[in-house]
Amino acid sequence: MSTADRPRRAPLGNLTAGKVSPIRHVPEHIARPEYMFHDGPEVVTASDIKDTETIERIAVAGALAAQALVEVGSAITPGITTDELDRIGHEFLIDNGAYPSCLGYMGFPKSLCTSINEVICHGIPDDRPLEDGDIINVDITAYVDGVHGDTCAMFEVGQVDEESHLLIERTREALARGIKAIRPGREINVIGRVIESYAKRFNYGVVRDYTGHGVGEAFHSGLIVPHYDAAPAHNEVMEVGMVFTVEPMLTLGSIDWEQWDDDWTVVTRDRSRSAQFEHTVVVTEDGARILTLPHKA
Ligand code: MF3
Ligand code: CO
Ligand code: CO
Repeated sequence: MSTADRPRRAPLGNLTAGKVSPIRHVPEHIARPEYMFHDGPEVVTASDIKDTETIERIAVAGALAAQALVEVGSAITPGITTDELDRIGHEFLIDNGAYPSCLGYMGFPKSLCTSINEVICHGIPDDRPLEDGDIINVDITAYVDGVHGDTCAMFEVGQVDEESHLLIERTREALARGIKAIRPGREINVIGRVIESYAKRFNYGVVRDYTGHGVGEAFHSGLIVPHYDAAPAHNEVMEVGMVFTVEPMLTLGSIDWEQWDDDWTVVTRDRSRSAQFEHTVVVTEDGARILTLPHKA
């Protein structure tokens, strides 16, 4: 089918949970994040403003996460299971001395999140083969040398309908615009204001209940980065050296969501499709530097 013949409209989703494979092994020599040593949320106290040395460590972790995302993305094709994508990402990270941050985080059972079609975020890799026309988000976080780097991207499986394709490209652009709005001295809520005003042009839903976050020594530091216009709330002033993620989730329909009884998978209540892109960034003198870029294309 040529691109001219691609379907115009996105279908509503009807995804169900598949079978999750046993927990993958991480070699003993790879250091675990602190949340692997106790139950419940992570307990890390570190400022969201990092020194140069810490920023460079986050850039190394970020580049590994980004390169893992390239490796996983290049394997995406109709018929491959998300469990196999998890295996590829897991092995890339451990082969490079990194711990896959998702594995065991608050009990999450896999090394990556794979979120298909109507899944907004936190999908668990399982035995479902990808189907022609699916869209999938892969979210990878690497922990190495004491810090996390967090990134995600969308991939199209085979021939995807026009509406889903546009959602993906505009979500990528929404992330780029949010990052371009970053400047020291501005409030953090400027990011979501820019993202929401762009998304509203296309009548997309802008997810509010899942946000960007401070990242570094902690996976989720407690600093919140909304993707909607939250002013006058979330008025923390951005400072040079502040590190956080921007990770907008945009939907074709409503932003109401429900969670599967696996306690992780978040789907749109109306089963409309959702897309997300994410980078870890640091605030610089004149804007932001992306810390989750791969070393090679
Ligand atoms: N990487 C996700 C984020 O962007 C968090 C995933 S937590 C997990 O914040 F436990 F679901 F893996
Ligand atoms: Co994140
Ligand atoms: Co992420």
